[in-house]
Amino acid sequence: MALVKISQILDGDCKDQKVTVRGWVYRKREGKSLIFLLIRDSTGVIQSTIKKDSPCWEQAQKITIESSLVLEGTAHEDTRAPGGYEVSAENLEIIGLAENFPISKDKSEEFIRDMRHLWMRSRKMNLVMKVRAETLKAAREYFDKQHYTEVSPPMFISAAVEGGSTLFHLKYFEQDMYLTQSSQLYLEILMFGLDNVYCIAPSFRAEKSRTIRHLTEYWHMEGEWAFGTMDDLIKFEEGLMEYICQIVAARCEKEFKELGANIDKLKAVKAPFPRITYKEAIERLKPKNPALDWGADLGYEDEKVLAEDFGKPFFVYDYPTAIKAFYCKTQKDHPEIALSVDMMVPRIGEISTGGQREDNKDILIQRMKEQGLKPEDYEWYLDLRRYGTVPHVGFGMGLERLLVWMCDLENIIDAIPFPRTTRRFYP
Ligand code: 4AD
Ligand code: MG
Repeated sequence: MALVKISQILDGDCKDQKVTVRGWVYRKREGKSLIFLLIRDSTGVIQSTIKKDSPCWEQAQKITIESSLVLEGTAHEDTRAPGGYEVSAENLEIIGLAENFPISKDKSEEFIRDMRHLWMRSRKMNLVMKVRAETLKAAREYFDKQHYTEVSPPMFISAAVEGGSTLFHLKYFEQDMYLTQSSQLYLEILMFGLDNVYCIAPSFRAEKSRTIRHLTEYWHMEGEWAFGTMDDLIKFEEGLMEYICQIVAARCEKEFKELGANIDKLKAVKAPFPRITYKEAIERLKPKNPALDWGADLGYEDEKVLAEDFGKPFFVYDYPTAIKAFYCKTQKDHPEIALSVDMMVPRIGEISTGGQREDNKDILIQRMKEQGLKPEDYEWYLDLRRYGTVPHVGFGMGLERLLVWMCDLENIIDAIPFPRTTRRFYP
């Protein structure tokens, strides 16, 4: 009997053939003379029927939800079965008989979240994890096609990138250190040798807000390159976004369908994206939020309202310098405006931030002082401006925020296998 994956049966590749399936019991329905088992493996769910006169009837009676098994039988078409195929069982071997499985339909969202280690077997999480893997693959393909070198920055760092309020502090032997909030500053170092660099790595934020878009540990796709301009940056980002959406829509059609996600919005992602200035954003939002004036940071609610108008990815650029990080370069004749750009999508708002970096040492020192940072903590970073400084740009995009949008998820915690938030860190 050929060992097959369930998807091969569902694709009609094993019609009327003897097959062996390995997997777990997903559902069980027991009648007087017939038992239905739904069996899952990584590729899908198949129905199996066991008749009372079958030699495996006793095993089928005994088997419980989430038990692991090896099942042999004949695959055939059956329009009544979910997926249109089923396996009539001839042999059933129980590998691991499961105790009473704690997760069932009537359980609360909260309970299911506490059972993450078991919930990761669910169809939903299986599908999201596949889309996640394909998204990572597509992102790497895009960077590689554009001749970016993937690099590996450290997670233990000695100075803040994105401000002290979201910095995780830790004792590193006798020393004070932090968990990185972004790999940007290290990409800037590596750029001097490799020109175009990127990394896909965790970033950490001691972020207390409980929203559908905040984690304390998330995966960050970041790129940095020498001699780049703001226009290069925006074009690169929209190219990346288009590539990911098109490729993943094509490769994960089944997954999106089963997740109930709107795949058409992904297929519609084509560069160029609309671009508006921060000033225009404020003008658009003003009627709905009269308190919003030039200089204010856009909140989640503001971004959502703005994004609803567009209904697709778009850019906001030319932010006030005062609300941006110390490393942002500013407009030549308007130092109050930062060369910074955010990509936004409906429902989530910001999914990436990028911009041109201040490449002048003296201005950088001044900006650090204005933001209460000690230049002596950033000596190595200042060295980059001392020895062959160069205009350069870069950006960071949150993988999980992107996935929330792509998969139409309700919450960011379902975009990562083991979410870390203020309240969740188990298992
Ligand atoms: O806007 P941020 O803070 O920008 C930076 O970290 C830059 N240094 C990146 C760079 O230029 N290399 O973060 C970038 C992105 C956000 O747009 C968002 O998608 C994601 O990281 N992000 C989070 N995702 C989940 N949970 C959080 N708490 C996040 N904070 C930021
Ligand atoms: Mg940002």
